[in-house]
Amino acid sequence: MQVQSIPFLDLVTPHRDLEEELVAVFKRALETAGFVGGPMVAGFEQDFARFCGTRNCVGVGSGTDAVRFALVAAGVKPGDVVVTVPNTFIATTEAITQAGATPDFVDVDERTYNMDPDQLRRYLQVQCRVDGATGRVYNKRLGRPVTAVVPVHLYGQPADMDPILDLAERFGLLVIEDACQAHGAEYFSRKDNSWKKVGAMGRAAAFSFYPGKNLGACGEGGAVTTNDDEIARKVRMLRDHGQAQKYYHDLEGYNGRLDSVQAGILQIKLRHLTVWNEKRRERARRYQELLGSAEQELRLPYEPSWAKAVYHLYVVRVQNRDALQKHLAEAGIGTGIHYPIPLHLQEAYAHLGYKRGHFPVCEGAAAEILSLPMYPGLGDEQQDRIAQNLLDFGSANTSSRISASALASNVTAHSA
Ligand SMILES: Cc1ncc(COP(=O)(O)O)c(C=O)c1O
Repeated sequence: MQVQSIPFLDLVTPHRDLEEELVAVFKRALETAGFVGGPMVAGFEQDFARFCGTRNCVGVGSGTDAVRFALVAAGVKPGDVVVTVPNTFIATTEAITQAGATPDFVDVDERTYNMDPDQLRRYLQVQCRVDGATGRVYNKRLGRPVTAVVPVHLYGQPADMDPILDLAERFGLLVIEDACQAHGAEYFSRKDNSWKKVGAMGRAAAFSFYPGKNLGACGEGGAVTTNDDEIARKVRMLRDHGQAQKYYHDLEGYNGRLDSVQAGILQIKLRHLTVWNEKRRERARRYQELLGSAEQELRLPYEPSWAKAVYHLYVVRVQNRDALQKHLAEAGIGTGIHYPIPLHLQEAYAHLGYKRGHFPVCEGAAAEILSLPMYPGLGDEQQDRIAQNLLDFGSANTSSRISASALASNVTAHSA
C-alpha cells in the first residue's frame, strides 16, 4: 500500500468545505456586475476592522501594496530610511523601496526570530545621531533621516511591541506593523495591561490575503488597518489612482484595489478564522508534546507569555537542516524554509553594502530553520508520522543532533 504524502499546506480541503458559499459570492458578483469596489468590499472592510479592533480597514490589491500604501500615507518620504529585519519576505523591503525610502536592518531575537528591541535601541543610539536643530534622527552612514520602523509579526508570532513603540516615541519614528503573516495574533501589552490584536498597535498595519495565509483569498488581496482616519483616507486614494472623487486626482496613486469577489470570499472565510487559528494552536501544542523532550537538539517555536501566536508557520531549528528536509521529502512530507537567505545577503540588496556577519542571529537561524506542515486540518496521524520520521532520522544519523530516544518516548506516548 502506498503511504499518503503529507503536504506542507492543504489549500484544497478548506475550499471544498466552503464551496457552495464561495460559488455564491461569484454568482452575486455576476448578477450585479459589481467586480470592483461596492458593498462586498465595504462589508469585508467593516468586518475585518472589527476583528482587528481598529477604526478603519482599507482593502488593497496585495500585502505588498498594503505595506507601501501604509508607509506613504503615514508620511514616509523619498530619501527616508525605514528600519526593519533581515528575516522577512522580500515584500517588506520592496514596499519600503517602492515608497522611495531605503530599507535598513536590525537583527532579530534568538528565540522569537522577530525584531530584537535591544538591537533597535542600539541602532538608534549608536548608528544614528539626533539633529540638534530639528530633533530628527539621522543614520550616520547614509546621512538620511530615519522616519519609520516596520516590525514584522513573522510566522504568526507578534513582535515585542511595547519596547518598539517606546523607542519609536522617543526617537519620533512611525511604526507600521507588517502583519501579513499574523491575522488574529495577540500581544499582551505590559504597559497597558491588556491584550491587543496585531494590526491595532502601530500607526497602521499591513495584511496579506495571499491564498496560503491564515486568512487567504482565492487570488491576491491585502488590507491596511489603522485607527488614524487621515491615513485611511490617504490609503483609499492611493489604491485608486489618487482620487477620492472619480477623475479628480489630488495625487498620483496606483491601481491597488481589493476586488469584490476576493472581498466576498474573505468575508465568508473571516467567520472561520478564530476557529482555524485555534486549530493551528492545537496542532502547535501537539507538536510540542510529541517533540518537546528533544528540544535541546530540535529547537521548537518559542511563544513568550505575552504572545498568542497563530502559527502561520511552525518553524523548528536543527543543525543538519538540509539532510533532515531531504529525509522528510523522501518520506513524502512537505516542508519549507522561511527564509533561506537573509535579505541583507540577497543580490537585490548588494548595494546596501552588508556582508555575512552583520546580522549573526538572523544568519544563524537561516541555516537551520525548517517549517513543518501546519494547517487547521492537519490530523493526529499525520503529526505522529511527521514526529516518527524526525525520530527515524535521528537514529539513522549518529552525528545527528536530534536525540532519537527523546523523540521515541514522546511519539509512543501520544500515538497510543
Ligand atoms: C511578511 C510579509 N510581508 C509582506 C508580504 C506581501 O504580501 P503579498 O504577497 O500579498 O503581496 C508577505 C507575503 O508573503 C509576507 O509574508
